[in-house]
Amino acid sequence: MCGIVGYIGHQKAVPVLLEGLQRLEYRGYDSAGVAILQDGKIRVEKTVGKLEALKETLEGKDLDTYVGIGHTRWATHGAPSTANAHPHMDCTGKFVIVHNGIIENYLALREELQHLGHEFKSETDTEILAHLIEQYDDGDLESTVKKALKRVDGSFALGVLDREEPNRLIAVRKDSPLVIGIGQGENFIASDIPAILKYTKKAYILNDYEMAIVTKDHVEIKTLDGEQIENKEVFEVKWDAAAAEKGGYEHFMLKEIHEQPKAIKDTLSGRLDLDNGQVVLDEVKLPVEQIKNIKKVFITACGTAYHAGLMGKYMIEDLVRVPVEVDIASEFRYRNPIIDNETLIIVVSQSGETADTLAAMREAKQKGARVVAVTNVVGSSVAREADDVIYTWAGPEIAVASTKAYTTQLIAMYLLSLYFAQVRETLSKQEIKGYLEALNQLPEQAEAALKQDEDILQLVKAYAKSENAFFLGRSLDAAVAMEGALKLKEISYIHAEAYAAGELKHGTLALITEGIPVITLATQQDVYDKTISNIKEVTARGADVIAVAFDTDTQIQKSVNHVLTIPLTEKYFTPVLSVIPLQMLAYYMAIERGCDVDKPRNLAKSVTVE
Ligand code: F6R
Repeated sequence: MCGIVGYIGHQKAVPVLLEGLQRLEYRGYDSAGVAILQDGKIRVEKTVGKLEALKETLEGKDLDTYVGIGHTRWATHGAPSTANAHPHMDCTGKFVIVHNGIIENYLALREELQHLGHEFKSETDTEILAHLIEQYDDGDLESTVKKALKRVDGSFALGVLDREEPNRLIAVRKDSPLVIGIGQGENFIASDIPAILKYTKKAYILNDYEMAIVTKDHVEIKTLDGEQIENKEVFEVKWDAAAAEKGGYEHFMLKEIHEQPKAIKDTLSGRLDLDNGQVVLDEVKLPVEQIKNIKKVFITACGTAYHAGLMGKYMIEDLVRVPVEVDIASEFRYRNPIIDNETLIIVVSQSGETADTLAAMREAKQKGARVVAVTNVVGSSVAREADDVIYTWAGPEIAVASTKAYTTQLIAMYLLSLYFAQVRETLSKQEIKGYLEALNQLPEQAEAALKQDEDILQLVKAYAKSENAFFLGRSLDAAVAMEGALKLKEISYIHAEAYAAGELKHGTLALITEGIPVITLATQQDVYDKTISNIKEVTARGADVIAVAFDTDTQIQKSVNHVLTIPLTEKYFTPVLSVIPLQMLAYYMAIERGCDVDKPRNLAKSVTVE
């Protein structure tokens, strides 16, 4: 997630901008830059890499100025490079902007603007905005920005400077966070509170479609329709800087769990054409003829990403009718898989740098397979080497235990499966439309699934001393059980095993003893009765069953000790919702047991060795 700062006031701007950017480092970034207004000109300095590199570039330069904007970039459109780093300028050097978000219609706008003679220096969607502002310039920055934004679909938090209006700074947002720090003879803009905390504890939190016109002594807030917002509430920050980086949450993991509705929305953004019942995956360049000829799919990944891959098998085999194998990446290349140019490999990796996943992908490519990557990190090795990339747009994941990366990987798998079904015509338009409508509900439903802290805390009190736990489920629930068990193991250190519920009686049932917690997912209706039978098998041996079921299920409580609920959705999409209570259970268990949630022992966020 990019970080934005802006300053106008009595202090020298550059040190304030750099301090703010440093406070936003936790959001993850690959390049950074600042723009200042100096002697009637805009001056931009930017570099790839860490802020230290930017500071080195700035060293010894005359940067005396009292107004500027800065940015840390987490690459989306276009690889990490100096040209793609923000701030971006228009052709004439009159305007400069920093942006966080995604401009969905950037390709069409870019073509239009190129046609009108605008020259682009980067591959970013952001630069479109600078040229659009230039195109609509009417001599008044406020109305110019409003006109330009009317053309834009997508999300934005934006800071804009005009060299001819050095006394004001414009900030505006839609679907990306932006705050205005209120100082004495100085004001600030920032993506997040930590950036301004050294200077002020007072802020306005901008809402969608709100614009702030910021001068050193005044902040005026209007809607994009020009309506003045009087008496905007001043937010008084009560956190310290460390808590502020986590948005007030105690840990990054909890913050990332709660970011899932937004992350899911971002993954879906621009990819659902609900009117025409079509999945839009323009980034997949794999020709239609080749998609039609795919004879076999391998999905390969590690850990949580492998669990997301398992869902692809269910969906592609059922809806596209192509055989799919899912392999742990560290095993895949050592078993000499049968691969040719009618084989498609899907690799799933949050970081895009996992050594085993990369090695598996290279092996498959060498054997002639076409590779589609699902990843979160633009410019990562996986993204660079794959033939096609579907980005999950989850924003940086900082906690070691993966949460929002998993749910957004699931969304990407769904989109890809439906896209293949669309191309191969194994589903009707009407059927696809039904799935897309259900997908569109997921962000809101994920929000509802998050609201069970109280129930989960009670379970934690009852079971935090357990040293063993089992996770059961059938069909897609079995794959979610694997992810639930992994989450519990890695952060709470409780030994947990996941089983396809029907398999338990073939050995593991011997481990079920009095009072052992057995978390059972019961969302798959076609195997529901069989799941209930498996629940009976374990309760008869003294287990305590915690079920995860739909909130419409009125029967389940008769068979189990506790129920956690999720909203009703399509069969395939339940994992996105049912994993949420499991993530929260693992989180609160770990807290109760005094574990270091964000940095569990022996683990690294990205495993770049074999
Ligand atoms: C578990 C977890 C790991 C990763 C795995 C793959 O919570 O995060 O299991 O999923 O190391 O990492 P990526 O997706 O970066 O390839």
